[in-house]
Amino acid sequence: MRVIVILLVTCFTLGLSVALLADEAPAKYAGVENCKMCHPDIHTDWSKSRHAKAFELLVDVGEEKNPKCLTCHATGYGKGGFTDTTATPDLAGVTCEACHGPGADHNGDKSKITRVPAVTVCAGCHQQLNIHGLPDATK
Ligand code: HEC
Ligand code: HEC
Ligand code: HEC
Ligand code: HEC
Repeated sequence: MRVIVILLVTCFTLGLSVALLADEAPAKYAGVENCKMCHPDIHTDWSKSRHAKAFELLVDVGEEKNPKCLTCHATGYGKGGFTDTTATPDLAGVTCEACHGPGADHNGDKSKITRVPAVTVCAGCHQQLNIHGLPDATK
């Protein structure tokens, strides 16, 4: 009897931990070199865009380690993505996954990647700013 109770408790605890883990484990970032392998043309276009150069802007002004800047000038900073250029060079700048979401599980599976990013994804980086010379609406 006791063995069964212990087993049941163990199963329950394990189940709970798995459920919690599943809840907490966010999709992982693959990095832009992964995307490049299968989407070379899109990668070529992207690499010419200003999004691709967003991290260099920080380097130019010596702010490449400032957490306040990395949320918008790198991909997934503070969300399991970019940490620094040594550990995560493929997530510097506004890469594919900044718009399409973390894609480590995608590898061609459509159900594991977002095709059209929600406008809130763009707004997360663009809303508070003076874009195209318009006044900053948040001030
Ligand atoms: C192993 C190859 C492979 C890799 C690596 C890969 N993709 Fe894909 N991707 C594909 C294929 C194939 C399709 C088309 C799937 C289909 O139409 O069923 C696709 C489709 C997509 C789509 C469109 C999904 C849709 O619903 O139409 C997006 C967005 C995308 N990929 C982004 C990415 C990003 C971002 C990365 C890097 C994190 C990436 N891909 C890495 C092969 C890959
Ligand atoms: C909320 C998102 C966000 C944060 C936080 C942010 N930036 Fe930006 N940054 C942007 C966007 C979006 C642009 C492009 C604006 C445009 O094209 O009009 C930009 C443009 C720039 C530019 C180009 C200069 C220019 O005016 O063309 C520099 C340099 C820059 N940011 C540095 C920084 C630094 C340094 C920090 C941290 C102190 C920072 N950014 C924080 C989103 C952000
Ligand atoms: C600034 C945001 C942004 C970035 C960065 C970005 N994309 Fe996209 N991507 C989009 C949007 C928006 C669409 C259009 C969705 C639609 O209308 O179908 C799209 C469409 C796609 C599609 C499906 C349509 C097609 O042309 O085949 C693929 C695949 C894709 N992107 C892959 C990538 C890859 C790979 C990268 C990085 C090299 C990347 N994207 C970078 C926003 C972005
Ligand atoms: C992770 C933050 C981030 C996200 C998400 C993001 N952007 Fe940007 N965007 C930037 C930064 C930073 C720049 C400035 C880069 C530079 O000036 O070098 C920029 C520049 C731009 C520019 C001007 C540069 C150009 O290539 O003409 C446009 C337009 C733009 N973004 C549109 C979008 C749209 C549309 C989306 C959503 C589909 C989006 N962005 C998502 C951060 C972001």
